[in-house]
Amino acid sequence: MEGVKRGTGYLSLTMVVGVLMCAAVVMVPGVSATRWTVGGNMGWTTNFNYTTWAMDKHFYNGDWLFFVYDRNQMNVLEVNKTDYETCNSDHPLHNWTTGAGRDVIPLNVTRHYYIISGKGFCYGGMKLAILVENPPPPPTSSPLNNTNSSPSSISRGKIVLPMVFAIGAVWDTFLRFW
Ligand SMILES: *[C@@H]1O[C@H](CO)[C@@H](O)[C@H](O)[C@H]1NC(C)=O
Ligand SMILES: *[C@@H]1O[C@H](CO)[C@@H](O)[C@H](O)[C@H]1NC(C)=O
Ligand SMILES: *[C@@H]1O[C@H](CO)[C@@H](O)[C@H](O)[C@H]1NC(C)=O
Ligand SMILES: *[C@@H]1O[C@H](CO)[C@@H](O)[C@H](O)[C@H]1NC(C)=O
Repeated sequence: MEGVKRGTGYLSLTMVVGVLMCAAVVMVPGVSATRWTVGGNMGWTTNFNYTTWAMDKHFYNGDWLFFVYDRNQMNVLEVNKTDYETCNSDHPLHNWTTGAGRDVIPLNVTRHYYIISGKGFCYGGMKLAILVENPPPPPTSSPLNNTNSSPSSISRGKIVLPMVFAIGAVWDTFLRFW
């Protein structure tokens, strides 16, 4: 009777620890993707300098651009460099406009992206050029350079995984003596 209860308890504990360990392993890469709302609170609109907005930002492979705008007026078109510079929207490389005024561009290739609004708005400054880069390697992969990094920069996975084992061990001990 007691043996059955203990067995069941141990099995579900094993499952919980397993799930936690999977979660910890998923967290190890540490670098999370960013969904950039283009223009921040202003969104995708006129009288805004998107070159200035992008200037202090790093866009990494895996991030997204999120465009929020008036669907009755603007749109979101990906063009090549020439058409970006001349605001030519006659032959977009990709029309990202879905019609909801809420469009997402997955930045899944490391290259330049040139995005403009058609309907004449590009001439007023509704144009965005960014370079998508590979994400920087996590701090754990370059131990020789770690002299500059603070303790807080240790990736979460490094702490979580030993914690999971510790919790598992404590439970194991508890159940054995119970
Ligand atoms: C936006 O700002 C950049 C540099 O900050 C400047 O070179 C550019 O002319 C500005 N664009 C407009 C449309 O004002
Ligand atoms: C962009 O596309 C236009 C029209 O298809 C073409 O004339 C131009 O050479 C292209 N520019 C680049 C940089 O590929
Ligand atoms: C882009 O796609 C939207 C939605 O399908 C469509 O309404 C719009 O006419 C297209 N714009 C261009 C410039 O192709
Ligand atoms: C990038 O995303 C686009 C749109 O979802 C998709 O069509 C394309 O295949 C993706 N490219 C890569 C290299 O994953």
